[in-house]
Order: sequence, then structure tokens, then C-alpha cells
Amino acid sequence: MIRFEQVSKRYPGGIEALHELGFSIEAGEMIILSGHSGAGKSTLLKLIPAIERPTRGAVIVNGQNVAALKRAGIPFLRRKLGLIFQDQKLLFDRNVFDNVMLPLAIAGVAPRDAARRVRAALDKVGLLDREKAMPVALSGGEQQRLAIARAVVNRPAILIADEPTAHLDDDYARDIAETFHSFNQVGVTVLVATHHDALFAPFMTRRLTLSHGRLA
Ligand SMILES: Nc1ncnc2c1ncn2[C@@H]1O[C@H](COP(=O)(O)OP(=O)(O)OP(=O)(O)O)[C@@H](O)[C@H]1O
Ligand SMILES: [Mg+2]
Repeated sequence: MIRFEQVSKRYPGGIEALHELGFSIEAGEMIILSGHSGAGKSTLLKLIPAIERPTRGAVIVNGQNVAALKRAGIPFLRRKLGLIFQDQKLLFDRNVFDNVMLPLAIAGVAPRDAARRVRAALDKVGLLDREKAMPVALSGGEQQRLAIARAVVNRPAILIADEPTAHLDDDYARDIAETFHSFNQVGVTVLVATHHDALFAPFMTRRLTLSHGRLA
């Protein structure tokens, strides 16, 4: 489902964040990506939706080398992925419901079906009773759960998350770990970098550990 072949990534300015990585992730796995700060976890995750491009090597997603993907193909690639990244901003001028609706509107899902799916996604993250709220009125944890609802409303086959529980206390983080587990249970392939290791580890099928840009 995802395969890295001899992947290296050097950022402009000289630092090599990833060095000749090779690994495969099969459909249905739930992988925890571990490693020290600066090990290259975020960089690895960003290569899959082509947020960053590798300097060398191939990143194969559903049989397609996204390292060689033309810009015009990127939106189509990302629509098949559930992405939870720190810098993916919520729309602060729209309420909770509309934030989750947006990906479905873009995909052209019929409004009634879309509304049902938005509520199912909000229910999964425990925000169903907040659908009229504006994002500024949500706590940090609620905003993170809203971002998760938006990422999964399109029913992606692959869910990629970078520190989805950062700044959350253990109770909220446990909810999110369990939510990811429930997606994985219905067949979603999950790849998550997290410092809440104890909460996610019981649900993982495998761990990948990076150290200074190499697989340990
Ligand atoms: N846009 C960038 N430009 C230059 N260097 C970068 C950039 N992004 C990351 N790096 C460098 O690449 C290396 C890997 O960074 P990355 O963010 O992938 O690490 P990480 O494992 O996610 O760390 P953390 O646990 O702190 O989030 C680090 O040395 C970092 O400073
Ligand atoms: Mg990171």
C-alpha cells in the first residue's frame, strides 16, 4: 500500500533529514512511527501526500510513485488520504459542521448523504453536540478532534497523523488512540507519529523507529 525505496531527503540548506529509507506498509496495518526529536518522522510523513518531495528514491502509494507525481495530480492523491498535520488549519470563519463538510463539498458528495457522514464523523470524535460552534469556541483538544473528523469524513483508506495528541492530556489522548484503533478495525491503514506511546502501542501492528534519518 505504501512503499519507500531508497528514499533520501535533504532540505535546502544542507541537512539530510532521511537517509536511504526502505520499508513497506501493508493494507490494514497500524504503524507507530517513533524516534527522537529531529529523527525525521514529520519529514517521512510529509513525503506520502507530496507535501515534501524526496531528494532521491521512490515513494509508492497505491502503486503510484508520488515522488514523480505532477503538481496537477496532487489534489487527487490527497483526496484518498486522511491527513492530520499540525499546520493544517481549521477554517475559523466556519462552524464545526461546515469545517467537516468541506472535503465532501469539494468531492461533490450529495448534500443529504454528506450531512449524514459529517454527523457520523463528529459523533466518532465526540463533537456531535458542538456542530454549530465556531472553532475559536473549542478547547485545544476539541480542535484536534475536529481536525480528525475532517480527515476521516471522506473515508480514506490510509490515515496519516503527525502528533495528533500533542498538547492533549491523557484522557483526550486515549480517546483519540481508541478512535484510530476503531478506524483500523474497519480496515483503514494507519500511520501515526506520536509521543503518547503508551496509549497507542496496545493497538499497533508494528513500530518503525527512526534515528537520525535512518530506520533503527
Ligand atoms: N523545512 C525544513 N527546512 C530545513 N530543515 C528541516 C525542515 N524541516 C525539518 N528539517 C530538519 O530535518 C530534520 C528532521 O526533522 P523532522 O521535523 O522530520 O523531525 P521529527 O522526527 O518530526 O522531530 P519532532 O519529534 O521534533 O517533531 C531536523 O534536523 C529538522 O531540523
Ligand atoms: Mg515532527
